[in-house]
Amino acid sequence: MTIQWFPGHMTKARRQIEQKLKLIDIAIELLDARIPLSSRNPMVDDILRNKPRLVVMTKADLADPRETDKWIAHFAAKGLASVAVDANTGTRIGDIASKAKELLHEKRERQRAKGMNPRAIRALIVGIPNVGKSTLINRLAGRNVAITGDRPGVTKGQQWIRVGSEMELLDTPGILWPKFEDQLVGYRLAMTGAIKEQILNVEDVAFHAIRELSGRYWDALSKRFGIEQPPADLDDPQEIVRVMEDIGRKRGCLVSGGRVDLEKASGIILRELRAGKLGRITLESPDDL
Ligand code: G4P
Repeated sequence: MTIQWFPGHMTKARRQIEQKLKLIDIAIELLDARIPLSSRNPMVDDILRNKPRLVVMTKADLADPRETDKWIAHFAAKGLASVAVDANTGTRIGDIASKAKELLHEKRERQRAKGMNPRAIRALIVGIPNVGKSTLINRLAGRNVAITGDRPGVTKGQQWIRVGSEMELLDTPGILWPKFEDQLVGYRLAMTGAIKEQILNVEDVAFHAIRELSGRYWDALSKRFGIEQPPADLDDPQEIVRVMEDIGRKRGCLVSGGRVDLEKASGIILRELRAGKLGRITLESPDDL
């Protein structure tokens, strides 16, 4: 989904979420398990305020499981409950309703003590574009729900989707904008496919991918592309380009004169990274904080 985020759109998106918060018991904040920092909206704490919240890391099937465990511990230390799921196959999505129930347990017990019979937990999914909101809603619903969005500017009647016996989900997720200020955030969003369009130059994105992968996952990179020599210095751009050229040569991305077609090599690197062909990779670790 392409959204051009202008200040007016951000204000509108925020207002739409704030309206929905009045209807729900718990917000489900989606983050991409490969980039939990870069896929987080910069104002999410301010927007969700005191609403009970569950963090759901999507695309856990593509992320490094050791890092995912660290993120879960990191969020827990900050008082945030989190789960990691594969929204495509539905792996562990059952944890979402059970965690939500756990988080709201006390409130519901208080209601029961007053003689009220608590209704199903009402939840809203929020997250930046392409983090997996529609996929997760469809999985939780167990059917295809037509999610036309509530992208800024489009409104439609919203409905509750029953999830199991104790949870209901708003069918229109809250769409949040990503961080724009930090260039590295943009590159990481592009590497993982959250920014699909070529807003950023493909060679620049691949350059940053190779730089980060050389530092964190050299073995995976070396194995996938059959290259042997890691960059001598990650801060030396020529060394990173040399690795990109090595990959290009291995994949036959050559132009006349035997030069490497870097654009083509970059496309291959990014496609295979996004598809998980290099293995399960996480680009942001709580250890970096
Ligand atoms: P959105 O509503 O938040 O904008 O995201 P959406 O559900 O459309 O998901 C964006 C892409 O991410 C989809 O791929 C979807 O299949 C994929 N995706 C969502 N959750 C998961 C997950 O847990 N694991 C994996 N592996 N993929 C997930 P797509 O439509 O095929 O687009 P693309 O593959 O061309 O990027």
